[in-house]
Amino acid sequence: MTNKTPPSIIALDGPAASGKSTLGRTLADALGYLFFDTGVMYRAVAWMALQRDMNLQDEAAITELAEKAQIDIRPPSKPDGRSCDVTLGGRDVTWDMRNAEVDANVSVISAYAGVRKALSAQQRRIGLRGKVVMVGRDIGTVVLPEADLKIYLDASPQERARRRYDELIARGEKADYEDILKRVVERDRIDSTRAVAPLRPAPDAVVINSDELTAEQVFDRVIALCK
Ligand code: CDP
Repeated sequence: MTNKTPPSIIALDGPAASGKSTLGRTLADALGYLFFDTGVMYRAVAWMALQRDMNLQDEAAITELAEKAQIDIRPPSKPDGRSCDVTLGGRDVTWDMRNAEVDANVSVISAYAGVRKALSAQQRRIGLRGKVVMVGRDIGTVVLPEADLKIYLDASPQERARRRYDELIARGEKADYEDILKRVVERDRIDSTRAVAPLRPAPDAVVINSDELTAEQVFDRVIALCK
């Protein structure tokens, strides 16, 4: 095997529940890199807006909220399946943001240009430090187009809904498969048709479909690209 320096900036994009977080976390652990799931920032803004009963159609107000939000992301403090701690003004909101209401509304606010501008500027600043696995929808295309390795992780909507269903059941929550499938498909539709930074593979991304692959097999494939 040839020994080269592993890629320093790794961009990992793909649709909802395609396994990006699992892959990103294991990859970051294996390489000793920072794992940064950018989706939590969009979720945090959506969650705050819902908490405040704001009108999600009010782009100016939501953008202002995104610009002012003090979102802090740190390595996980508890072994409860979280990929990182997310705090807002010091309060741990890691799991609050993973609820059905946020799932159903996050794509609306993440389509706003001002929201994207505010959040992706922070993401880019952190990413450029290197030794990072950054996970999202537009990392390889917009946030860090200079990434050394770009992976686009895909899977069928049915498989992704099944994984999200299993995840919720494992956390002891109620879940309805058909409902999850509907929401996954709708979120993909909004994410991939929005005018700003739509979900799509970068031209130089390695596309992996994980329908027939275990998490371990996906990891093996990607780590082989790093070494
Ligand atoms: O974990 P899951 O794949 O379900 O979603 P997520 O990565 O937490 O992202 C939640 C939502 O945030 C997505 O559906 C997108 O609307 C938005 N997002 C985005 O627009 N750009 C990113 N870089 C990351 C997330």
